[in-house]
Amino acid sequence: MPEIKQGVIFDLDGVIVDSAVFHYRAWKKLADELGISFNEQANEKLRGIPRRESLLALMGFNPGEDKILEYMDRKNTYYLEMVETIKTGDMLPGVDNLLVELKSGGFKLALASSSKNARLVLGKLGITTVFDAIVDGNETTKGKPDPELFLKAAHELGVLPSSCLVVEDAESGIAAGIAAGMHTIGVGNPQALARAECIVSRTAQIDSAMVIKVLSGDSHSGSDAG
Ligand code: BG6
Ligand code: MG
Repeated sequence: MPEIKQGVIFDLDGVIVDSAVFHYRAWKKLADELGISFNEQANEKLRGIPRRESLLALMGFNPGEDKILEYMDRKNTYYLEMVETIKTGDMLPGVDNLLVELKSGGFKLALASSSKNARLVLGKLGITTVFDAIVDGNETTKGKPDPELFLKAAHELGVLPSSCLVVEDAESGIAAGIAAGMHTIGVGNPQALARAECIVSRTAQIDSAMVIKVLSGDSHSGSDAG
């Protein structure tokens, strides 16, 4: 067990569950309907970004409040249709084992997501009670890259930000973790996640030894992606 209380704060979409692709497909459907060009490369910039800011970035201009509300609602409806397919235990490979390993190692666990659907998704996966704290887009005013979500999670865990490790698949999430004064592991694209202390290509590559190493500040420029 860690002598000082330490926390691991997980992002949801793209780290715990393969729902980042659902966000992409829902935005793509809306963009196609609106005749706006949008592809996976453009989507990379939207990872971790709240719904409203994502829509404005996708459109490239402000269409007015009524349209913003209509389009956000449309995108969310498409997203929720896909979320319906999530079943208990549908986490990304290795997530189950990692959560059990970290919990039994004495780490405090939090979930911090910009998504307003985070609790719904956790409920469908059946892992809501695994986390000691859950912070989502409904209870924060600023999304990633602002550190608000992570700082709130650390506060609820009762752990100092400097003793927290953030696990993120988004450039905006790594920026938020750094702004919060936390350690970071990036999951996915090494270019987008270059600022993370350690980068892996899949969540399954993370284990408690890696978490301990990163939390000790002993892993700068470490990349385990492969
Ligand atoms: C983040 C996703 O977790 O949540 C983003 O990475 C998404 O792609 C954001 O836009 C907001 O999600 P929601 O479910 O509130 O629209
Ligand atoms: Mg994510």
